[in-house]
Formats: sequence, structure tokens, C-alpha cells
Amino acid sequence: MNLSNNEKIIIKILKENGNKLPIDEIVNLSNLSLVEVMNALSWLKMKGVIKIHEKLNKNYILTEEGEKALKYGLPEKIFLENVKIGVNDVDTLKEKIGKINVNIGIAQLNNKGIKIENGKILVEDLERAEKIVSNNENMLKNYNNLDENSLSFLLKRNLVKRKDSILREAELTEIGKNIKDEDLILMEEITQLTPEHIQKQIWKNANFKKYDVTLFVPMPWMGKNHPLTYFINKVRNIFLSMGFEEIYGKNIVSAFWNMDALYIPQHHPARDMQDTFYLDGSVDIPDYYRIVKNVHENGYNISRGWKYEWDEKEARKLLLRTHTTVNTIKYLYKNRNSENIKAFMVGTVFRRENMDPTHLPEFHQIEGILMEKNSDFPMLLGTLEKFYALLGFEKIKFKPSYFPYTEPSLEIHVEYNGKWIELGGAGIFRPEVTEPMGIKYRVLAWGMGLERLAMIYYNIKNIRDLYLTDIEMLKSLPIP
Ligand code: PHE
Repeated sequence: MNLSNNEKIIIKILKENGNKLPIDEIVNLSNLSLVEVMNALSWLKMKGVIKIHEKLNKNYILTEEGEKALKYGLPEKIFLENVKIGVNDVDTLKEKIGKINVNIGIAQLNNKGIKIENGKILVEDLERAEKIVSNNENMLKNYNNLDENSLSFLLKRNLVKRKDSILREAELTEIGKNIKDEDLILMEEITQLTPEHIQKQIWKNANFKKYDVTLFVPMPWMGKNHPLTYFINKVRNIFLSMGFEEIYGKNIVSAFWNMDALYIPQHHPARDMQDTFYLDGSVDIPDYYRIVKNVHENGYNISRGWKYEWDEKEARKLLLRTHTTVNTIKYLYKNRNSENIKAFMVGTVFRRENMDPTHLPEFHQIEGILMEKNSDFPMLLGTLEKFYALLGFEKIKFKPSYFPYTEPSLEIHVEYNGKWIELGGAGIFRPEVTEPMGIKYRVLAWGMGLERLAMIYYNIKNIRDLYLTDIEMLKSLPIP
């Protein structure tokens, strides 16, 4: 019989240990890994050398409640100790040690040493009550070694639970037992053929290890990026490949850049405390604010402005950015003399939203701007279409929309499972936003949600799943 070295090692171990051993014992004694042992055993089984026995092992383990009771005492014990020192009013005791402890204490001891009358706990036979408590305590301590009655008592009280395991044992068959020691001498094995084996003709006398690709092997879980990180990088690479420069910015910004510079009036609902996380304190704003103030109040060129008194204090407020447009507008201002700009960023934004399957108070946006001599609306649509196509979304739809800082404005929707899902907004920055800065050409701009896109990409139904560290889910998500 042709035996591999691992098979020989295992047969030897079985022979030295009464022909039969649990598999983890074999692993211990052999210095082989579980996988190597399992593989060798399934070969040996096929060759008729061993048999595998499976035995169901009933085990009992403490529940969380059981662990707690073991550590801090059973509820009835805590109950009785308090009654002993005179806390005998049911309501007072509930406040002191908790309703659950009192209820269990009463359930265990009522009419067995104590009595409840008009909300008071009366001790009738302290010795009896104490005996019950110490009995129960003993059961808990010996939960691993109990008769059926005691066990079912603990099971019913959810102090222990059953945890089965399967004990697998390998046993040599007659064929196995008859293998001679000289057939168990370990030999050099070739597991991978090299040019040297062929050139020097070593292969002629070598012992080749056989393979069976149908055998069980465990899944090798590789280290890999979090799916969201992976997805963000994918988005970044697409914009980089389209010739966009990546820009960065801080999470904490002034209301001025987040809103005023974007021509969002100070009485706009989005500025409300209900929607925006404001922080204490205020910050400096650039002198450019004088121009912004004037545009808000009186307009620019043919525009008539919002017609209200612009408040500098409001603009100096600090907040967690509500959109990444705060970064592109700042970038525009810094590069107001440029002839062309193509910039994008991916960043977190914060809104006072309630969490539900499609909303989070903190999420990512994919933001971008494009400005050049002839930039126009079709170019905006084309750029967005191109981006989504490169991500694998062929079917997108644009709908008219409104933002205070763009005209025209649009919403982007993508089809998924026959439903249209809104992914973000875009438009051309209004002249009130760009012209006072000295920007020469039309600025195409967009800001799109990243998580919703990632959900579709990974087929995840609940946005929160993207942020749960559920190792099983993370392991099994494919790297697309
Ligand atoms: N800032 C907008 C949002 O958060 C998206 C947007 C960006 C719209 C740029 C138009 C232009 O929804």
C-alpha cells in the first residue's frame, strides 16, 4: 500500500495508543495541523485503513445569567440576604436590588420559609429558606455533574444551556492493524516537481505525494480591505483615471464656507439645528465675506439677491460639514485665477438624520467640480454618465431638482432591482456663487452619496451593515 508520510505518522500514533483516538488527540500527538490530519484521515479511510466514529457529546454550559449568578450570587440569595437585614417591603426591595431579583426570590422561596402579605415579606422559617438557597447554589456550582432533576431545574431557570459537540474518533481497521512497522518508515516525498527533479532524474525513484482535488480544504481567508475602503478606492481610481485631481478637507468647517459662500440664505431650513450639527465657538472668515454679504443682500449683476440682512455671526459658526461641496467651493476660491479645474474628493459628511436602512447621520459623499472654457450642461451629464458606467451602472436617470447654489440643478437616480434610487445632486454653480469670486467659466458640480452606491454594489439591504464589524459578513463579501 502506498502511504504518505502524514498517513504513516497517524497510523503509528494509532498503533501506539490502542488503535483508537479522538482526532484532536491525533493532532496533539502528531505535531500536524488539523487540516493535515483531516486530509490524511480521509485518505486512510478511502484505503480502508481506518474507520471514523462520530459520537454526540451532550455538554452543559452556564448561560450569561448563570455566570452572573455564580459570580454575584443567585437572585434568591441576594433576596434573602436583604430580607435578613430587614428590607422587607417588596417595593423598597425592588428598588434596591431590582425587580427581577425580587420576583425570582419570591418565586423560589414563597411558602417555603417566607410569606408575602400586603406587600411585606415575612420570614416564617429562616432555616428552611436558607437551605433552599444553599441547595440551589450547590446545584449551580456543580452544574457539570448533576442528576437529571437538578439539571432540568437549572435549564428551566436559564442558568445553564445545552451545548452539544461531536466527538470524532479514528480507529484502525484490521487492514490498518496489519500494516507492518517497516512500511511506516518515513521517506522523502516530492510534493512539487522541480526542473532539478527532472534534470537529475530524481523523479525515477522518488515517492510522489498524491493529490485529490476533491478533498476538503478550509477556506483561506485573506487579509483584505474593508469593503467600504475598497469601494472608496475604486471611486477614487475612476476619477483619477478621468483626469481629476483629488482634494481633501476637514470635517469641521465654518458655516461661511459650508453655506454662505454657496449662496445658501441664512434662513434656509438646512441651516436649522434640526439638520446640522453645530459646534461651540466661532471662527475667522476671509475678507471675501464682504462680497458674499453684498450678494446675499443685493444680488449680483442681474440677480436681486435674497433681500435680507446678512449676519456675520451666523457665518462664523462652526459645524460638522453637511456636504463636501464646502471643500470644492473653498478650492474654487483658492484657485479662482485658474483657467481649468477638475477636482474631486470623497469625504464624510454629517447630518442630523435618524438611522434607518437607507440613512445614517454620518456618511460619505463623492464630490467633484469641472471648469474649463467651454464647460456646459451636456458635459456635466456626460461626465456623470461616464463615472457611473465605469463603476458598472449603465442605467442612470437625471431628474430636474433644486439647490440654492446651482442652476440648472439635477438629481441622479440609478436603477436597481427594478427600482430607481436617488444617489445625489448636481448642477452648474450659479453666477452668484462663482462670478463674485472672479471665476471665468461655468463650474459643473456634483455631490453624490457613496454608501447607497456601495449597498447596490455589494447587494447589501441595510446601510448599517456597512459599518457593523460582523466578521463573518466581512469575510464572505467578495472582492469584486
Ligand atoms: N451638496 C449637495 C447635497 O449634499 C449635492 C450637490 C453638489 C448638488 C454640487 C449640486 C452641486 O445633496
